[in-house]
Amino acid sequence: MAEVSIQALFDRNVDWAIAKTRQEPGYFRRLSALQEPRFLWIGCSDSRVPANEIVGLDPGELFVHRNIANVMHTGDLNLLSVIEFAVEALGVEDIIVCGHYGCGGVRRALARQTGALVDHWLAPVVEVYERERARFDAGASDEARLNLLCELNVEAQVERVAHTPIVRAAWATGRTLRIHGWIYGLKDGLVRDLGVSRDGPDKAQAEQALLDPGPVDDWSEHVHASALRLLGGKAACGCDAAGDLRSEGVQ
Ligand code: CO
Repeated sequence: MAEVSIQALFDRNVDWAIAKTRQEPGYFRRLSALQEPRFLWIGCSDSRVPANEIVGLDPGELFVHRNIANVMHTGDLNLLSVIEFAVEALGVEDIIVCGHYGCGGVRRALARQTGALVDHWLAPVVEVYERERARFDAGASDEARLNLLCELNVEAQVERVAHTPIVRAAWATGRTLRIHGWIYGLKDGLVRDLGVSRDGPDKAQAEQALLDPGPVDDWSEHVHASALRLLGGKAACGCDAAGDLRSEGVQ
C-alpha cells in the first residue's frame, strides 16, 4: 500500500469536496442544514469496515458509532448517548450491530490475552466465550472458532442494546424500533444478517415491565433524584425538586 502523507489528506479532501459538489451542486449546503439518517450503525473500529461505504450510504444517511469489537458496555456513556440521540432526537427506527469476521479484538478475547487496557474493554466478549464454550468444537480450525465468536458476540451485543433503558422505554411507549445483528466478511465484502433481530421486549423484559411502576422515560429525572440524594436534598439548580421528591416519599 502506498504511503500517504498527512498533507496529502488535505489535498484529497479538497478533491473529494470538489467532486461531490460537481455531482450535486449545493450538496454541502443541503447536508449542513439537516441530518436525517434512518439507521444507527454500531460497528468495529477496524479500518477495513467503513460503515457508510460497505452499505452504499452517503454522508447524512447513517449515524455511526464504532469501537473495538463492536461492544455495548452497559456503562458506556458514549454509546448510550449515541443511542439516546439516535432514537430520541433523530427518530431512528433501525439499529444495526455489525461485527466482522477476522476481528482482531475478538481474536484477542478468544486468546484470553491480558495486560492492556483493551483487555478490560473486551471483557464482555470473553464473557460470551465462557458462556457459549460448549458450542466451540475443539477440533475446529482457529479461524472457524474465531468466526463463531465474532457471530456470537454480535448476538450478545444485540441483546445488550435491547436491554438499555432507552430502547426499553421506546418499546414500552409503542415506538417502532428494530435491532439487527449483522456480520461483514473481510474476504468477500459482503454483509450477512445473522437472524438475531429484535423488535420488542423479550418475555423476561415484558414480565419485568409489568412489575415496573412505569417506563424509564425520563432519565434526567432519575439522575436528578440520585444527585439530590447525594447532595442531601439540595438541588444545585435551585429548583424545588427536593420538596417534590420528599412528598413522593423519596428520602
Ligand atoms: Co474488529
